[in-house]
Amino acid sequence: MSRGHYCVGLDIGSAEIRAVIAQEISRDDPLRVVGMGRTPSFGMRRGVVVDTDSVAKACNIALEQAERMAGHAAEDVVVSISGTEIICQNALGVVAVGRADGEVTEDDMTRVMDEVRARLTMPLNREIIHVIPRDYRLDDQKNIKDPLGMHGVRLEMNALIVSGSTSHLKNISRSLEQAGVSVENFVVEPIASAEAVLSTKQKELGAVLINIGGSTTSMVVFEDGDLLHLSILPVGSGHITNDIAIGLRTSIEVAEAVKLQYGSALPDEIGKKDEVDLSLFDSQEDAVVSRQHIAEIIEARFEEILNVVNSELKSIGREELLPGGAILTGGGALLPGAVELAKRVLRLPVQIGYPKPLGGILDQVDTPQFATVVGLLLLAQANRVNKHTFSPNMMHGMMMKVRRLAKKFLP
Ligand SMILES: Nc1ncnc2c1ncn2[C@@H]1O[C@H](COP(=O)(O)OP(=O)(O)OP(=O)(O)O)[C@@H](O)[C@H]1O
Ligand SMILES: [Mg+2]
Repeated sequence: MSRGHYCVGLDIGSAEIRAVIAQEISRDDPLRVVGMGRTPSFGMRRGVVVDTDSVAKACNIALEQAERMAGHAAEDVVVSISGTEIICQNALGVVAVGRADGEVTEDDMTRVMDEVRARLTMPLNREIIHVIPRDYRLDDQKNIKDPLGMHGVRLEMNALIVSGSTSHLKNISRSLEQAGVSVENFVVEPIASAEAVLSTKQKELGAVLINIGGSTTSMVVFEDGDLLHLSILPVGSGHITNDIAIGLRTSIEVAEAVKLQYGSALPDEIGKKDEVDLSLFDSQEDAVVSRQHIAEIIEARFEEILNVVNSELKSIGREELLPGGAILTGGGALLPGAVELAKRVLRLPVQIGYPKPLGGILDQVDTPQFATVVGLLLLAQANRVNKHTFSPNMMHGMMMKVRRLAKKFLP
C-alpha cells in the first residue's frame, strides 16, 4: 500500500451497518480514520440477507456518510460476512517442492494452498471463504510456521477451511452489487474482530473472542498463535431485548431503550426498590417496573448465550482452559455486568475488547461495536503489503467491478 492510499471497511451487521474509510500516511504509522458512517440495518436476519434491496440501501447510506466525511470515494471495500451456517473444518495439502535445490518458494506456498482446496470435497451448496494456514511440515520437520526459504522435498500444509452456504454468499454479493460496491475481499466477522482486538500474546496463550451482536454471537478461538475454531451462534443481544419486551409486555422500542439505559446482567447488584417508569419512554405506557426484574430477564438470556459459547469450547476441549481468557466485543459486550457474568459462566479471565488504536477521528471507532470494521481495515492494509493475508478467497473470481456512482457530493 503506497503513501496516501485509502482502505474501506464495511461491516454489515444485523443491528447496524458501519462503514469506515482510513488513510495510510506511511507504513509505520497507524491507519488514520478519515470517514465513518453508520445506519440501522434492514434486510438482515441472523447475519444473512433476507431482503437484498434494503441491505443495498443501508450499505449505501453508511458508505455515503463515510465518503462525505472523508471527502474521498469508497472504492475497493473489504466487507464482513456472517451467518450461522458458516463453519470451519481442518484440511491438509501436500506438494513436492518445485526447485531442484529444495528451497521452498512462493510458488510452492501457492501450490500447497491450492492443493488444500482441491483435496477438499465441498458440497455443491457450500463455498470456501477462507483457507487459513495453521502450520507446515517439511519432510520430518513439524510445526513450521513459515517454510518459505527453508529446504526440503515434501511440503505439507495444515489448514483451517472456513466455508459458507452458496446462496448466502450470492445474496450478499447481489446486495453489494445493487449498492454499486466493488468488493476487494470478504472476511468472516469474528476473524476481523479478532484482528482488531486480540494481542499476539493472547493468541499464543489461548484466547476466545466473543462478539455479541444483535442477532448472532460469533466466536473465534486462538491457541499457539493459530486459529483453532470458529463458530457463529444464532443468538445475540437482540434476543435480550425481545425477552424484555415480552417480560414487561411492552414494545421492542421501549424494551431496547430500557435495556440501554437501565439494563444490567447482575440482578443481585440492583436495589430491590429501584424502579423504571415506562411512561418516560412512551407516553402510552403507564407501568412502573422493578429494575431487578429487568436485570433477571437480562441475566437469564445472557447466561444462555454464554452457555452456548461454553458448549462450543467444550466441543473442542478448551472449556475453562484458555489462559488468555475471553475477550468480549460487539454491542452486547457494553451491557453493564457482562464481564462479571461471563467470568462466572465461562470461568475464565474476561475483558472487553477495544479495537487497536488508529489515528484520525479515532473517537468515532474506539468501541467494541467497531471491532469488526477496524479489523477489516487492518486486514485490508496488511493484504496490500502481503497478498496472502486474506488467503485465496472464493470471492476473487466473483469480484464485482461495478463502481459506486453516487459521488456527486465529493469536493
Ligand atoms: N450500550 C449498550 N448497552 C447494552 N447493549 C448495547 C449497547 N449498545 C448496543 N447494544 C446492543 O448491541 C446489539 C447490537 O450489537 P452490534 O452492533 O455489535 O450488532 P451487529 O454487528 O449489527 O449484529 P450481528 O453481529 O449480530 O450481525 C443490540 O442488541 C444493542 O441493543
Ligand atoms: Mg456484528
